[in-house]
Amino acid sequence: MAEVAVFGYGTVGSGVVEVIDKNAELMKSRGADMHVKYVLDIRDFPGDPNSSKLVKDVDVILNDPEISVVCETMGGATFAYEYSKKALEKGISVCTSNKELVEAKGAELMAIAREHSCSYLFEASVGGGIPLIRTINDALTAERIDRIYGILNGTTNYILTKMDEDGAGFDEVLKEAQEKGYAEKDPTADIEGHDACRKIAILASLVSGKKVSWTDIETEGITNIDTEDFSYAKELGCSIKLIAMCDFNEGCSARVSPRLITADSPLNCVKGVFNGVLIHSDMLDDSLYYGRGAGKLATASAVVADAFECVRFAGQEVGRGWTDEALKLNDPGDMKGRFFVRVDNANADEAADKLGAEKVIKHDKESGLVSAVMSETEFKKILEGLAGVIKFIRF
Ligand code: HSE
Repeated sequence: MAEVAVFGYGTVGSGVVEVIDKNAELMKSRGADMHVKYVLDIRDFPGDPNSSKLVKDVDVILNDPEISVVCETMGGATFAYEYSKKALEKGISVCTSNKELVEAKGAELMAIAREHSCSYLFEASVGGGIPLIRTINDALTAERIDRIYGILNGTTNYILTKMDEDGAGFDEVLKEAQEKGYAEKDPTADIEGHDACRKIAILASLVSGKKVSWTDIETEGITNIDTEDFSYAKELGCSIKLIAMCDFNEGCSARVSPRLITADSPLNCVKGVFNGVLIHSDMLDDSLYYGRGAGKLATASAVVADAFECVRFAGQEVGRGWTDEALKLNDPGDMKGRFFVRVDNANADEAADKLGAEKVIKHDKESGLVSAVMSETEFKKILEGLAGVIKFIRF
């Protein structure tokens, strides 16, 4: 029997305990006998059925030779880093949902795990319960992945879906999402695209084998998207989604931004809090991954699946990661695409001409144009010379 400790008894941590308790027999029949011995949290949980397992001192866990796996669901990159490092140095595998820590210190923690014949696994850090990391590491291991393109943040997808379907404004939907518990009290990381950016940085690091820093990726959130944008999007047969992408066709390009998504894209059907990711690889072509990218049990399931791997392959490192060598990203100005531009009617004809517009939609006071394919640099240069531009959104 493998004894497991859970660091952090919040939403995901309590989910980990629940998943192991509920499915322990099933997992035993599949090759890993696991039991939660400790839960680390500085808070008290009077009356909680697991209160006998609660400890406040991490050393109680780290000094117990029976513990072979830690599930780290604390979040943050300070205590979680310190405790994960100490556990790995003792040969205790760590499985985490903590994208902040994986993005910032993943390479170092994986190297420590390797040195101590254990593992640092992070399936739950990207796409919640959707098995993206394991798919990239295992199922697609004979493939050259050239593009990852998808919706990696449930909060923003919920907000954009509501705006699209109900015609509601951003502020109103955000408030409702906060009331329902879908959005955090401080929603900055989600609505500004930072959360999706960290996730695509992790995936890009995994694919390239080198470290991609989230701060190197140009990121735009959804706070500027308004109901008028959705009105144009509908007329174009599109929805608007926050897309995180990386492309490895020549070097690596990456970006997080809202995009117009055409009706024939499978991502158009990814609604509400769900995530959806398209991976293009050289042999398989496109494959689509869809599911709950957040939530207690979905995320906990991915953490426990990692713990299962660690127990089954005890004494060896499983998974694959990246080194500390930084991957230099391509100039984002070189990325090519079409752009949707809103411009006042007085300047619409000139804008359509200069942007080689393929489509023009006239509204009362303004028009929406779809540009020809061009690089971001070319596009922005043309934009500088235009008057009356209200905004643009990438296709
Ligand atoms: N805030 C994140 C989301 C949680 O909305 O997708 C999961 O990482």
